[in-house]
Amino acid sequence: KASSPIEIDPFSLVGKELKGLTSNIKLNIGSNLKQLDTLSKYYFEAQGKHLRPTIVLLMAQATANLSPHYNSPKHLSNVLVNDPLAPDSILHDHNPSFHNGISYQGQDGILATQRRLAEIVEMIHVASLLHDDVVDDADTRRGAPSAPVKFGNKLTIFAGDFLLGRASIMLARLRSLEVAELIGATIANLVEGEVKQLNETYESSSRDLQTVIDEAFERYLSKTYLKTASLISSSSRAAVCLGGVGVNENWAEGEYIKDAAYDYGRNLGMAFQLVDDMLDYTSSADLGKPGEGADMQLGLATAPALFAWREFGDEMGTLIKRKFKHPGDVQKAKEIVAKSQGMPKTAELAVNYIEKAKSALHKLPESEARDGLEALCLKVLDRVK
Ligand code: FPP
Ligand code: MG
Ligand code: MG
Repeated sequence: KASSPIEIDPFSLVGKELKGLTSNIKLNIGSNLKQLDTLSKYYFEAQGKHLRPTIVLLMAQATANLSPHYNSPKHLSNVLVNDPLAPDSILHDHNPSFHNGISYQGQDGILATQRRLAEIVEMIHVASLLHDDVVDDADTRRGAPSAPVKFGNKLTIFAGDFLLGRASIMLARLRSLEVAELIGATIANLVEGEVKQLNETYESSSRDLQTVIDEAFERYLSKTYLKTASLISSSSRAAVCLGGVGVNENWAEGEYIKDAAYDYGRNLGMAFQLVDDMLDYTSSADLGKPGEGADMQLGLATAPALFAWREFGDEMGTLIKRKFKHPGDVQKAKEIVAKSQGMPKTAELAVNYIEKAKSALHKLPESEARDGLEALCLKVLDRVK
């Protein structure tokens, strides 16, 4: 092989597709209601990391030669590449027969439907960020004032809902029940993750402390799957589904590849959130969003705090149980975490997930795109913002 994953930039492998991503999304979220139009587009003005679309596009490429559409000059994909949902077009021009278009598989092996999926997934992600910034009372996002600060909570919630509505139309136009089901389920998972986080308590009965902490860890990891890894894993799987993998071939072989794509996304997603939770403790980088203990200020005990609880017992447990709400609690907890193995243990856990993501990936045939997905593993562990 020409280059190792360390030298590959996964984002530039699909740079051409990523370049059109935001403008394509904007074509589909127009509204004649000026406030709604502006706010729905607001988080797309700043540069996001585009982690989810990058995974979708690379997974599409990495499984292209398993697709029955591969090498076919034309592919009837039931998606019209240029069907902007311009202001009011939904209400006035909606004609289902209009959406049966032909799209061509480009030389990059990515179908129009898969490119569309990348856009849909980013829209859902941004919708969740809009709601999240209301829930978390966040002042900043993507290096700028957050939507609630600029436009208020009510409009921000509506803009998130609006994005979900438009994403649903685009999803329907993919004409894949399998993918609609996957994406629908993951939207519900996002909400379940948030509610689980909101309701977290550490009420202990007579059980021993280790059990209490183990169970808190289980709930933390389950919540992390729901709020972060679910969207990444489902969209990774959905990219393979849209390629038609397993349709003409052996069904079981298709499932094997889809499961591999899902497992890659799930484990990478878990690692991504663990690193995100670590970054909340390290104030050095400019995150572009609240950091420096923002999670604890919200009452949340993430992996580093839970590990410190295991190591220091009640000294940390007391703070966690009262959700760091007494004056000085956040600072005290930071100090305990700093003297504990919380950060290195969290990093180790993230590395374990990344190792699992890589083994899942190795079930796919070798390709440059697969190397890109592997390179993404390293980027997730190394990121500073
Ligand atoms: C960021 O987490 C937020 C999420 C991963 C999901 C938020 C989901 C909802 C608010 C449910 C509603 C969902 C939709 C689709 C409208 P974080 O707060 O830990 O990270 P941050 O530091 O980026 O804010
Ligand atoms: Mg949140
Ligand atoms: Mg938040």
